[in-house]
Amino acid sequence: MELFTTATKEHDELRQGEAYVSTQSKAPFSKFFMIESYGCAMNFADSEVVASILEKNGYGSTKNIEQADLILINTCSIREKAELTVRKRLTEFRKYKEQKPAMLVGVLGCMAERLKSKLLEEEKLVDLVVGPDAYRTLPDLIVEAGTGQKAVNVLLSREETYSDISPVRLDSNGISGFVSIMRGCNNMCSFCVVPFTRGRERSRDAFSIVAECKDLYDKGYKEVTLLGQNVDSYYWNNPETNTQVTFAGLLESVALINPQLRVRFSTSHPKDITDDVLFTMMKYHNICKYIHLPVQSGSTRVLQLMNRTYTREWYLAKVARIKELMPECSISADIIAGFCTETEADHQDTMSIMQLAQYDYAYMYFYSERPGTLAEKRYEDDVPLAIKKRRLQEIVDVQWHLSNESNKKELGKCYEVLIEGNSKKSDAEWMGRTSQNKVVVFPKANNGSSSNLKKGDYVQILIKDFTKGTLIGAIKNN
Ligand code: SAH
Ligand code: SF4
Ligand code: F3S
Repeated sequence: MELFTTATKEHDELRQGEAYVSTQSKAPFSKFFMIESYGCAMNFADSEVVASILEKNGYGSTKNIEQADLILINTCSIREKAELTVRKRLTEFRKYKEQKPAMLVGVLGCMAERLKSKLLEEEKLVDLVVGPDAYRTLPDLIVEAGTGQKAVNVLLSREETYSDISPVRLDSNGISGFVSIMRGCNNMCSFCVVPFTRGRERSRDAFSIVAECKDLYDKGYKEVTLLGQNVDSYYWNNPETNTQVTFAGLLESVALINPQLRVRFSTSHPKDITDDVLFTMMKYHNICKYIHLPVQSGSTRVLQLMNRTYTREWYLAKVARIKELMPECSISADIIAGFCTETEADHQDTMSIMQLAQYDYAYMYFYSERPGTLAEKRYEDDVPLAIKKRRLQEIVDVQWHLSNESNKKELGKCYEVLIEGNSKKSDAEWMGRTSQNKVVVFPKANNGSSSNLKKGDYVQILIKDFTKGTLIGAIKNN
């Protein structure tokens, strides 16, 4: 860890501008693209890389579809419903294309990778299909598509990390930024399409990650979220010094940029999160005390079929270790209801593991079979839809209760909150988050008089009440 920290300082000057170009194009644009993103945070981060590539090639971004010469849709394949949403959106683009035939429509991301040129046959109005590792070729593909040919590049790479590209921040609040630290996934969870759509796991040059985070801080950002499908298996070999950087080392280097810069990360695979990562979290106040630790199922038998490589007991021991070292740390999970062969007893195991882990929050889904995955090849999708949905509802009910209990415990406590902007409901209230990732809303006025707080400030908030999903507080007076 220390080795890397020193190395960062040594190499910063050498590398700046070489590994990470932070100046963004300010050229006036003659053509415009609109990009819509679906799926995980990594996809949204990729859209910012795409925006950067296009800006350098003379395309400005627009939110106005009427103004767009190019519509891009960055897609997700994780569940069938995600793909159906994209298909529906593509049909909606048809009327704009009819009005403006020269306009190009491109499909990017995981659906592009999964369906490849088949997408061109299925969706007649699509002109471009570009997979997640081929975005550098977009400018050439646009030229090709402009001549009336159908342009496709879905080659996956073992090296591409876009490390030298400075993302153009789209829809940013100017306070929180996402930074990709790796791409792809080497795990073969049997239900999951990601290893097929994103390819092999590879870690990005650590210097470029730290430089991007520092650049964000210099621009006024106060929070970075380090992104990867499995951040704990981050591993980068510095070719100049032949030293290795682990996730714990990277986390420390980012935390050291400035104590005022909050650091978050997602996602952690329970099998890979190490004590070293937990110790690093404990050492730095600015590393947020929140871990997203997907469990998927509470039944060891189902976990084995899912190829998750841990048991129920192993998972619970990991949760206990986190709570032992950081009692204040919040934990959330992803859960799948109704995976192949799941019995009522397995389902009960999932509900009981939720109770034991006491999740503060959870993302819950019913199983959706994905073509090409191990589960599709090996197991029958044999839990009827109605049962999947009923089990999912029961899981949602358990989590509702747990989140409620978790929020109730916050009453009367004081938290440092980073202000992200106005609350959705009222300009007279701020919205921010605790280190534990809980949303807090509080009046801007303090004891009836206005305070000088602004977006990006940290403030001590006393928690007084809560509604579903939101804590309600007030500025603490000393
Ligand atoms: N890399 C992350 C998760 C990426 S996908 C991890 O390993 O945890 C996000 C979530 O979608 C998964 O955690 C899983 O709960 C859910 N998911 C993935 N494939 C699914 C499928 N076929 N059906 C339903 N949910 C799925
Ligand atoms: Fe999918 Fe598993 Fe990789 Fe997550 S770790 S992206 S669930 S294969
Ligand atoms: Fe979806 Fe691809 Fe992310 S399948 S969840 S957009 S990696």
